[in-house]
Amino acid sequence: MKKYNIAIIGATGAVGQEMLKILEERNFPIKDLKLLASSRSAGTKVEFKGKEYTIEETKEDSFENIDIVLCAAENEISEKFSPIAVKAGAVVVDNSSAFRSNDNVPLVIPEVNGEDVKNHKGIIANPNCSTTIALTAVNELNKYGKIKRMIVTTFQAVSGAGVNGIKELDQQVKDISQGKDVDVDTFQHQIAYNVIPQIGHADEVGYFEEEMKLQIEGRKILHNPDLKVNCTCVRVPVYRSHSESITIETEKEISPEKARELLSKAEGVKLVDDLDNNMYPMPLNATDQDLIYVGRVRKDISGDNSLVLWCSGDQVRKGAATNAVQIAEVLVKENLV
Ligand code: A2P
Repeated sequence: MKKYNIAIIGATGAVGQEMLKILEERNFPIKDLKLLASSRSAGTKVEFKGKEYTIEETKEDSFENIDIVLCAAENEISEKFSPIAVKAGAVVVDNSSAFRSNDNVPLVIPEVNGEDVKNHKGIIANPNCSTTIALTAVNELNKYGKIKRMIVTTFQAVSGAGVNGIKELDQQVKDISQGKDVDVDTFQHQIAYNVIPQIGHADEVGYFEEEMKLQIEGRKILHNPDLKVNCTCVRVPVYRSHSESITIETEKEISPEKARELLSKAEGVKLVDDLDNNMYPMPLNATDQDLIYVGRVRKDISGDNSLVLWCSGDQVRKGAATNAVQIAEVLVKENLV
């Protein structure tokens, strides 16, 4: 089998580290591996498949002979280095939001629109984590009944804000238990024993940045420019895995029974829906998994052709690292690199 030279930009970060784990788990056909980060981490040793690798500083000449770049660094880093990597002959799978709205850049969830990878011109974007979780959950329902509208509330884990989010929750719980005042830094307010209905900056009509992503990205991924999404994003004091309450309005009616049948066979989905035994998706169960757990499937009693469901998914894995590796697998399978 052909093997590929892979580089990871941001290999020391939360998503980059998870990418390494997933490349190993899925036995990705790697010839050479180059691990890149900032100058701060250059020289750090990282183990992969029993072999020691040294982190290098990301530079303009880092991409010679690289076939696929997995970019797990923030927007500015991706904006700078992705075009350089493409020029050097690599295909970039980018986890940042830098290129998601670019018409020349496919935005891909392999289970949903994997065939869009074929249109790539060097860069393929990974969607926002909440978008990937929601659209993987409703993909088969959309294929059956075509979704016109979604009303979504997200319950997003503190690790979505990086390692600092986890540290802040831990520290605040500790301080509160000792009767001390809490420090607030990563989030806008105290997150311990609280929920915060703000992720990102506000726009002029009262939505926060994260809340517009599902509509903007959903339209592109589902090839449905008329899709309407009303989303409220909430940060919750959960370590890992995002949950979402999703109402979908479809062109064709889908009964809850039909929805469960479709979801039970849906790629990337695990149906967990057994109310008699108190079984439904929860972030604790979805963590460290690639499947999006879906349950609480029921009729929307306030509307026609409308269903309600609840899902939980690991935002670091399927919401970021696994989805990127799956895109790379499509590149390999379809000989697009
Ligand atoms: P570093 O560890 O050297 O700072 P996270 O989102 O988990 O904080 O991860 C961000 C990733 O992006 C890290 O691997 C980080 O490396 C990397 N990074 C930050 N700044 C740069 C840069 N200027 N060039 C390349 N990688 C960077």
